[in-house]
Amino acid sequence: MNFNITTDNIAGIKSDLEIIIVIDKALKHRFIADKKLLEKAGFSGEQDEVCHLIGKNRLYVGAESLKGDKLRPAVATALRSLIGKKAYKSIKIATYLSHPRCTASLRAMVEGIVLGSYTFTTYKSKRVKSSIKNVEISLEGYNEHEITTEVAARAVRNGEISANATNFTRDIVNTTPEDCYPKIMANIAEDLAKNSNLKCKILKPKELKKEKMKTLLAVGRASRHGSRVIHLTHKPKNPKAIISLVGKGLTYDSGGLSLKPADYMVTMKADKSGGSAVLGIMKAISEMNLPVEVHGFVGAVENMIGGDAYKPDDVLKAKNGKTIEIRNTDAEGRLVLADTLCYAQQEVKSDYIFDFATLTGACVVGVGHYTAGVMGHNDEVTSLVTYGAEVSGELATKLDFNPYLKKTIKSEIADVCNISNTRYGGAITAGQFLSEFIDDEHKNRWAHIDIAGPAFVEHIWGENPHGASGAGVRMTIRLIEKIVRSEDKNGNKHIL
Ligand code: BES
Ligand code: ZN
Ligand code: ZN
Repeated sequence: MNFNITTDNIAGIKSDLEIIIVIDKALKHRFIADKKLLEKAGFSGEQDEVCHLIGKNRLYVGAESLKGDKLRPAVATALRSLIGKKAYKSIKIATYLSHPRCTASLRAMVEGIVLGSYTFTTYKSKRVKSSIKNVEISLEGYNEHEITTEVAARAVRNGEISANATNFTRDIVNTTPEDCYPKIMANIAEDLAKNSNLKCKILKPKELKKEKMKTLLAVGRASRHGSRVIHLTHKPKNPKAIISLVGKGLTYDSGGLSLKPADYMVTMKADKSGGSAVLGIMKAISEMNLPVEVHGFVGAVENMIGGDAYKPDDVLKAKNGKTIEIRNTDAEGRLVLADTLCYAQQEVKSDYIFDFATLTGACVVGVGHYTAGVMGHNDEVTSLVTYGAEVSGELATKLDFNPYLKKTIKSEIADVCNISNTRYGGAITAGQFLSEFIDDEHKNRWAHIDIAGPAFVEHIWGENPHGASGAGVRMTIRLIEKIVRSEDKNGNKHIL
């Protein structure tokens, strides 16, 4: 998709179709040329309501406001309605930016265009796709806000990068476990590095054994696919901060010997969403060439059953020497993350560590399908995550740790148990389990993001399609940009 920004009036631009955002339900705005027709069609300008006037080559879409969180899904819905319509190869859209946060809205608009045009057609014999190749954006009305085309161009470019990275992550997550297993995830990371300035290191089972990552290896033991740990690095000169990202990459989670019920196993190809988000974020950070050092770690493992499977009753020793009583092999993500987090901390002394995981069904029960749970010991760091979510249009909410829940993961025979002794508060107890594998010096620099809800939803919601959403990608790009800005202001190495 090519984006072109122009200060020309929207009316003078040639294209197959004009997209018009309607924020005025009375349909009186100067951009609305078809009030009567729209009324006849019953269009009332509700959020995400679309009305395509075919003869006029105009497509109207309602939005509650021009703020990013309303504009992004509205534009995405408009673009989604054009999928499969081959006549439309170019569109034009005006920014109508009449409030101060205009670059954020412009970026959201571009994100909406790219995210809404996404299709996953790998397994379809008939591939129905978006035909839009060219997008003309008119900055009509922009000058009043003294925003240069250069600033606008940057917003467009950043929007393209973050949405393309989100779509990249969606593709990985949507790929079946037959086609995407640990080695393939490693190949994807290597290809990413080849086509960018990223460095890539892959640890295979032999190296993982040497690194004493026995809990990670135990989870993957019954699989025919060997486990991998991926380490991608973006290392500019004079970085303003060092950030580590760690992702759960369960290419399939059958539950292991504590086998999932049939209905719950479906969609578990999406248990690699955290790791896939890390790959997407690394792609974007490298393309944006942000002045921060970022390390992406992914624990890529398949949790299966078989004679060699790890078992409830086993006691495993993690990389940091802590012993773990296994009482449920379906609580495998925390085991893979335990070793991957230890490895990440051994390799890099970072200012921030963020981990991403489809870790618990409890998080989905607690906050619903669309929202990520954010946990950690430091309010400033968890606030960075919720800030990133807010500006990027993702949903994330904090879940507070407490000492009473922490007691529920105690073990009588080992240092810690991989499940809690209570049915309640499962997202938090899983987060507290992970905390056992964060060194003291990193405790206040870490946040855990449980994306079990939003990573994969089997219906369209907002700017997201059926299936993988790419949860975590946009919010993290935004939070890293924020770290860059605050380092600029403070001139300190990091903000903690
Ligand atoms: N991958 C699942 C969590 C999950 C559930 C992700 C639903 C996405 C949607 C995780 O490995 C798991 O099975 N967790 C168990 C933990 C339990 C055994 C303590 C769960 O949530 O049921
Ligand atoms: Zn599981
Ligand atoms: Zn899992």
